[in-house]
Amino acid sequence: MRYLSFPLRNNLFVAPMAGVTDRPFRQLCRKLGAGLAVSEMVTSNSLLYGSAKTRRRADHMGEAAPVAVQIAGSDPATMARAARHNVDHGAQIIDINLGCPAKKICQAMAGSALLKDESQVGRILEAVVGAVPDTPVTLKIRTGWDRDHCNAPAILKIAESSGIRALTVHGRTRACGYSGRAEYETIAALKAGARIPIVANGDIDSPEKARQVLDATGADALMIGRAAQGRPWLFREIEHYLATGARQSAPRADEIHGILLEHLEDLYAFYGLDAGVLVARKHISWYTRGLPGSAAFRQRMNRLSDVAGQRRAIDDFFLGLAERDERLHYAPASETAQSEREGPIA
Ligand SMILES: Cc1cc2nc3c(=O)[nH]c(=O)nc-3n(C[C@H](O)[C@H](O)[C@H](O)COP(=O)(O)O)c2cc1C
Repeated sequence: MRYLSFPLRNNLFVAPMAGVTDRPFRQLCRKLGAGLAVSEMVTSNSLLYGSAKTRRRADHMGEAAPVAVQIAGSDPATMARAARHNVDHGAQIIDINLGCPAKKICQAMAGSALLKDESQVGRILEAVVGAVPDTPVTLKIRTGWDRDHCNAPAILKIAESSGIRALTVHGRTRACGYSGRAEYETIAALKAGARIPIVANGDIDSPEKARQVLDATGADALMIGRAAQGRPWLFREIEHYLATGARQSAPRADEIHGILLEHLEDLYAFYGLDAGVLVARKHISWYTRGLPGSAAFRQRMNRLSDVAGQRRAIDDFFLGLAERDERLHYAPASETAQSEREGPIA
């Protein structure tokens, strides 16, 4: 597939998730089947450019092209500078988040609150597109602020006339948070009137659901967030299903064991050992969610604070699973705590 003139393996994108889609996770998802992975937000506040976190988020070493970086904020000039800064540091696609959850880095009225102020949206989009004329700029939105302000069609028109090259839509309003179902019919209506590619997002958690959302929306691509946490191989499963209509077999325990250990090595290297162990806990708990014995395992694992202990606990857990069955059988997501899967409103 070609997207914004980049050749991609497929039209399955990893959603930007602050605190989740760091470089190790993006690289892993790409390796296991995702066509594109959008980075966590990189602040548009230049005061933070020097912070270790911001520098880490802007580190794209070894990342496969195209490198897509998301920015968020509410001031056109600051956003334009952020876009330029990220392009100068390797971004090949700039994605603007009109659903920013993080108050710390977004000034008042940033993020999806901005959806209410259409003329300010226009000013931001034009400033960013103008600041990086050789780099495609995309936009990510919810369907509106709340059910009485579903102005995604107006935002689409503003985006098109500002030179935005693609629009991702999470099929919920900001006020909905993560409740209710994603409205694919709203995305379908947008797609029907769009002159730019539309990426459908929200609640895609299986190969069958991916097929259903593509059919229901006619979208050019799908973006997947929470369901990929701890399941980076979901992308290849969806890719296979879309191509053949058949499900791949459940993954082998020894393969996932190996993928997780490699993921951890990347996290330790990226964050350093102390921070790496803490970041790794979150991912380990996602990888094991829904597997037999995972609750007790997580309790044990959360008490371990060193790399060797973490590796050993994972070896014990996965070798135990492999003895019972060479394939992993996850309980359906609906049977695992929803609260474990939700993040900031975006
Ligand atoms: C932990 C977490 C962090 C998120 N951070 C961002 C973000 O930085 N930028 C953004 O546009 N959306 C963010 N989102 C929203 C996701 O990109 C996506 O739109 C949303 O989760 C719906 O897709 P899903 O149902 O596939 O998870 C975040 C979601 C989660 C769960």
